[in-house]
Amino acid sequence: MPDRNAAALDFLLTRRSRPAKTLTGPGPSREDLMPMLTAAGRTPDHGKLEPWRFIVLQKPALERLGALVTTRGAALGIDEMKVKKERHAYDNSPLAVVVVESPKASDKVPAIEQTYSAGAACLQLLNAALASGWGANWLSGWASQDRVFMCDGLALEDHEQVAGIIHIGTETCTPPERPRPDMELITTWVDN
Ligand SMILES: Cc1cc2nc3c(=O)[nH]c(=O)nc-3n(C[C@H](O)[C@H](O)[C@H](O)COP(=O)(O)O)c2cc1C
Repeated sequence: MPDRNAAALDFLLTRRSRPAKTLTGPGPSREDLMPMLTAAGRTPDHGKLEPWRFIVLQKPALERLGALVTTRGAALGIDEMKVKKERHAYDNSPLAVVVVESPKASDKVPAIEQTYSAGAACLQLLNAALASGWGANWLSGWASQDRVFMCDGLALEDHEQVAGIIHIGTETCTPPERPRPDMELITTWVDN
């Protein structure tokens, strides 16, 4: 019989994000956050390319980016309600970590595998935050796909993009369970 890590398995079978809009302060300190980032850095990574990096947004940075959301929303002609909703995610957040997909040139590892690894780093960070007792939520939002926002707001390089923004804070409520997939429907067993 393999060694069973019951606590880890129970966590994975019951984990649930906490919607960003329900998070409040305080957010994690630098000391609290480092083990979570370290866990994210243990993400499977073909060829050890480290095709990701992390930007920790503390309150003043979140406020600056919230203002940039309004400016960019107006410049792009985005619906006012949509802009307000997007800005609220930044204004309301106690702390957020931008997981940046930062692909590396490689003859061996296709770009898509580096993208998958960046997505996996997002989940690893999200789960590390939840397992540490914080409320956390993986968001993207239209601003994170706007090149001007990426460049002026987050100082990303041209070849980089946002894989995800993980908001981390104190949870105020546990959301009800949401429907989960029917495993029989999406699993194929092949025995020959
Ligand atoms: C790449 C990615 C981007 C997402 N962006 C958003 C978003 O911008 N807004 C949102 O409400 N949910 C977004 N979600 C969904 C939530 O992170 C999450 O799926 C939902 O809260 C349920 O999570 P749970 O299965 O951990 O409970 C995104 C999910 C992924 C994987």
